[in-house]
Amino acid sequence: MNDEIILSVKNLKKWFPLRRSIAEVFKGKRKWVKAVDGISFDIKKGEIFALIGESGCGKTTTGRLIMKLEELTAGQIIFKGVDISSLSSAKDIKKYKEDVQMVFQDPYASMNPRFRVRDVLYEPLIIHEKTKNHAEMEQLAVKALEEVKLTPPDEFLDRFPHMLSGGQRQRVATARTLVLSPDLIIADEPVSMIDLSTRAEILHMMKEVQERLNLTYLYITHDLSTARYFCDRIAVMYLGRIVELGTSDEIIENPLHPYTKALIAAVPEPIAGKENIIKDIPIKGEIPSASNIPQGCRFHTRCLYAKPICYESDNDPELEENSNDGHYVACYLHKEIN
Ligand SMILES: Nc1ncnc2c1ncn2[C@@H]1O[C@H](COP(=O)(O)OP(=O)(O)OP(=O)(O)O)[C@@H](O)[C@H]1O
Ligand code: SF4
Ligand SMILES: [Mg+2]
Repeated sequence: MNDEIILSVKNLKKWFPLRRSIAEVFKGKRKWVKAVDGISFDIKKGEIFALIGESGCGKTTTGRLIMKLEELTAGQIIFKGVDISSLSSAKDIKKYKEDVQMVFQDPYASMNPRFRVRDVLYEPLIIHEKTKNHAEMEQLAVKALEEVKLTPPDEFLDRFPHMLSGGQRQRVATARTLVLSPDLIIADEPVSMIDLSTRAEILHMMKEVQERLNLTYLYITHDLSTARYFCDRIAVMYLGRIVELGTSDEIIENPLHPYTKALIAAVPEPIAGKENIIKDIPIKGEIPSASNIPQGCRFHTRCLYAKPICYESDNDPELEENSNDGHYVACYLHKEIN
């Protein structure tokens, strides 16, 4: 990995309009689901960068915005120095969608059940007009299957998705992204639907491919226990905001935000084979709705350290660097707490 920034996300927002009652329409009131509410981060070339957080915190929406599957409400997404909102020609957008690929949570749902593995792998080549030559397509498909260790490839090319195990299906989903030689892969909960015993194997394969091909990953997950092994840096999301960001070692061994502490305390072994030293960090209640975000620090309704500054302030605390070490935290009281 070098320090070249491949993706830069700046103050990104995605607000979905909420259906209004007739009375609200007449009053001119608009309501929003603030799925992503002002997040910024950079990903370096060759890095595995994780977005971690509870269900509904905006991880997938962030991935979909980067993939240009959603229109952003505000902010910028800069890929290799180019603001992707400025891509206007079909040719430029197509090229971007070749360079940035996504692996989805449920490989079964994202594959046409009537497609054989070869068709699954040929499809992006056809859409992106890479080649019309069948021998060449087969060569690229075989190479991609070898990359993900589905060998011998001939044994898999003519199978349908239902003839594969969950782990094998996720390998095919990864192979499908590789045929286009992307630079950035967004992997959205790639192992959450796979049997526990196969998860480590698939993550190991993904990491090996990433190192061999010098790929960059944005890894989206709610599972902290895989993060330290798999990722270089972690951003912790809460209700549409990033509350902590740092190297995986720092986040897992020295969490600064009360929310991160609570997430880590809930994992029996955040570092494989080592007992969790962060214990008994409680968290109150349930995550609030993204359409009714608490004033001030949005975590205050669940935080046991909250003081008036946390709920009387007009804004959320901004991410600030803790001690010049690339470890950032957004908490008014982090110095006091830690
Ligand atoms: N198209 C949509 N219209 C309205 N609200 C949406 C839409 N898509 C997502 N949301 C809302 O935005 C918020 C963030 O959703 P998102 O899917 O990004 O969360 P997530 O972190 O990926 O959760 P999970 O871990 O469950 O996959 C949620 O409150 C969700 O209900
Ligand atoms: S700002 Fe206050 S409410 Fe928010 S995390 Fe810090 S202590 Fe808790
Ligand atoms: Mg999701």
